[in-house]
Amino acid sequence: MADKFLIDKAKTVLNQNYQKKGFTIPSKNLYPFQWKWDSGFIAIGFAHFDMEKAKKEINSLLNAQWKNGFIPHIVFHTKNDSYFPGADFHKSSLHPKSPVHIDTSGITQPPVLGFVLEKLYNIADDKDDVLNFLKNQIDKVYKNHEYFYSKRDINNEGLVYIYHNWESGTDNSPVWDDIWKTMNPPRYKFERKDTTHVDSSQRPTDREYDHYIDIIELAKKFNYDDHKIAKHSPFLVQDPLFNSILIRSNESLIRLYKILGGNEEKIKYLRSKNEKSLISINEKLYNSSIGAYLHFDLRNKKNIPLVCSSSFSPLFCGAPNFKIAQRLKSTLVEKFGKEDYYLCSSFDPEGMQHDPKKYWRGPVWINLNWILYNGLKRYKFKETAKRIKNDSLELVDKLGFYEYFNPSKKNSKNNKGYGGENFSWSAALTIDFLSEK
Ligand code: GLC
Repeated sequence: MADKFLIDKAKTVLNQNYQKKGFTIPSKNLYPFQWKWDSGFIAIGFAHFDMEKAKKEINSLLNAQWKNGFIPHIVFHTKNDSYFPGADFHKSSLHPKSPVHIDTSGITQPPVLGFVLEKLYNIADDKDDVLNFLKNQIDKVYKNHEYFYSKRDINNEGLVYIYHNWESGTDNSPVWDDIWKTMNPPRYKFERKDTTHVDSSQRPTDREYDHYIDIIELAKKFNYDDHKIAKHSPFLVQDPLFNSILIRSNESLIRLYKILGGNEEKIKYLRSKNEKSLISINEKLYNSSIGAYLHFDLRNKKNIPLVCSSSFSPLFCGAPNFKIAQRLKSTLVEKFGKEDYYLCSSFDPEGMQHDPKKYWRGPVWINLNWILYNGLKRYKFKETAKRIKNDSLELVDKLGFYEYFNPSKKNSKNNKGYGGENFSWSAALTIDFLSEK
């Protein structure tokens, strides 16, 4: 399909998912609210053709920020019982600093807003207009970074933890499997809604959900108190993707504060945090025998020796030196980039747990591809970058703007997209891919 048609189709998806209240749902039926990192990618897409909507997207997310700087992973702008777990389950009001005017979840997602704000600025024709917008929003994002470093970097090493798999964005990755073995949650009674919209073979199992629910029950028992969660959560992980995004967003905030002028103290703070984060991500999360960055299980004090698409995300924030970056690229191409595979599987195609249909256990996701593409470009790995971009575009063009895709080309005639249809970030990032000069 010619680029222009694909862009037009993508714009239609975004406009159709846009809601009157000024935010965009990830996908009709399956995800009826506003999700944090989705919103960031969506704003990038809108910025190319409707900056007002891009700004509203960010505004409505930040409008749900907690007084302690925390930004929740879901904002429940409307009542809708087609999603579980909804506002009544999450009960954000338990935390004294949660907003009173709106319900949210009490877990977060990767801190994309810093680099998203910079993207908006770079894309904008009217720079003054975006600068005015930034002036009002940037401190909120800064406060979010302060929250992460003050509450979630418990060893003061520049690496922040996540306490729930949903915080990673890569919900049911095999990376968490061994953590589930350390837990023995009750069999909760709940009514899954996702499996009424999507084939259950493409979603996590009910037993997996028991674990997800159990951690939130624990957090609620402590009224979402960070200190107590850090002490007691069975899930406490330093995720290379989450931390790379934080570092990349620090970088953007520094650059934007410089453009805005003043703000010396904030720049100094972000710089010092970033320096420490860069050292630690390399020292603690890079594994030279595997040639990839690994997750670190803080609760059980060990790294998790599994390779997934997040393992390459430090390219996005410039963490590896050139030699390590080359090694990462080799691991990526050798393990994930065999001839009959689209880049980039969410989980190691050579791994026992790889499942090409199941959510974050194998399928290709467009947002991770976009992050890896930008990371590869940063190191001038042009060929691999081009391949990942072309693979992404081929998938959405042939199969539609689905939530995720089968990485295998073997049966490609029967291949179809999986999960939610007309999925916002698949559309938004297609626009960004195709708008590149
Ligand atoms: C799923 C994805 C998560 C995303 C959400 C909304 O839970 O795993 O990353 O933010 O859907 O699209």
